[in-house]
Amino acid sequence: MKPIKVGLLGLGTVGTGVVRIVEKHQSDLESQVGSPIVIEKILVQNKDKARSISIDQHKLTDDVWEIIHNPEIDVIVEVMGGIELTRSYILEALSRGKHIVTANKDLMALHGPEILSKAQEHGCDVLYEASVAGGIPIIRTLIEGFSSDRIMKIMGIVNGTTNYILTKMSQEGADYSEVLKEAQALGYAEADPTSDVEGLDAARKMTILATLGFRANVALEDVDVKGISAISREDILYAKRLGYEVKLLGIAERQDDYISVSVQPTMVKRSHPIASVNGVFNAVYVYGEAVGETMFYGPGAGELPTATSVVADLVAVVKNLKLGVNGKQEKIAYKEKKLKTDEQ
Ligand code: NAP
Ligand code: HSE
Repeated sequence: MKPIKVGLLGLGTVGTGVVRIVEKHQSDLESQVGSPIVIEKILVQNKDKARSISIDQHKLTDDVWEIIHNPEIDVIVEVMGGIELTRSYILEALSRGKHIVTANKDLMALHGPEILSKAQEHGCDVLYEASVAGGIPIIRTLIEGFSSDRIMKIMGIVNGTTNYILTKMSQEGADYSEVLKEAQALGYAEADPTSDVEGLDAARKMTILATLGFRANVALEDVDVKGISAISREDILYAKRLGYEVKLLGIAERQDDYISVSVQPTMVKRSHPIASVNGVFNAVYVYGEAVGETMFYGPGAGELPTATSVVADLVAVVKNLKLGVNGKQEKIAYKEKKLKTDEQ
């Protein structure tokens, strides 16, 4: 069977996980899609860097056009991060008919509508499950699982780094900057961890979740954001004494026709299930008008959990290729949203 050739942009934490999973689960993947999946070329910044996996050196390139302009490559998996450069690569790849899988919430929160519309124009898929809550399949769940319901509230811990820091400060009295360094070493943090600790990463994820969950045009600047950098060990210990845990919560609510979205450190009563979500784990609580309360839990960052979502998207793209239905997903008719603040 003709192999499906994939171009990988990035071989850091997530890219390495993607290579590992594609190699380890190759026969399972092949039996699902009916063709071998081959990672043909990998874009990196530094070809000579020491890697934690063994890679055929010929597969590495520092020239993105070797991937984007390669007619044999069907799908591009973008796990390099960044915004403007990456956006230009993805738009060019789409204009050449390549399907895209990305873990990049920064890009999707800021340029999602432009990218998705370009994809439709060229009959391409763009899937981005790994962009929110790492290993939890929350995007697919919001789009497909809640298609019959009206979501009223989405609330959760959507940043693994800050939850790791807050948990260690709460349980071990650990020092904020020491734990941040640990989270970086474990591959949880963003290249610039300011976006984790100042809440921007969570705000980008909440933008994506609110857009999909409320089927509305929610923009990043609509989100009120406050991070955890000003939270001290004393604040956490004081909250604990009162029976609360401090969590960085994203909250998106719909009231009648109004939507509000925020990210802020919040005192969560210890009896609430979200209070016991610890370490790098994420949890997303979704309240649907018909279904009532639901909650989704799992690892929110890290090599293999994130790569699991990326490779699941890759499988979905390849299945669509086999059926000839790429880019044919029903277009979500987003409504213009009104923000709660528009009332005031
Ligand atoms: P990372 O470890 O920093 O890896 C980035 C990779 O991209 C590296 O291999 C780097 O090359 C390559 N790269 C970066 N800029 C490049 C450029 N301009 N040209 C060529 N290659 C470039 O990042 P990561 O943690 O894997 O994250 C990747 C993406 O996934 C980001 O969008 C992130 O937000 C998202 N994400 C990450 C996680 C996580 O747990 N880490 C979870 C969900 C989503 P070198 O190896 O040569 O330096
Ligand atoms: N830096 C992000 C986090 C990676 O800690 O949640 C996963 O998106």
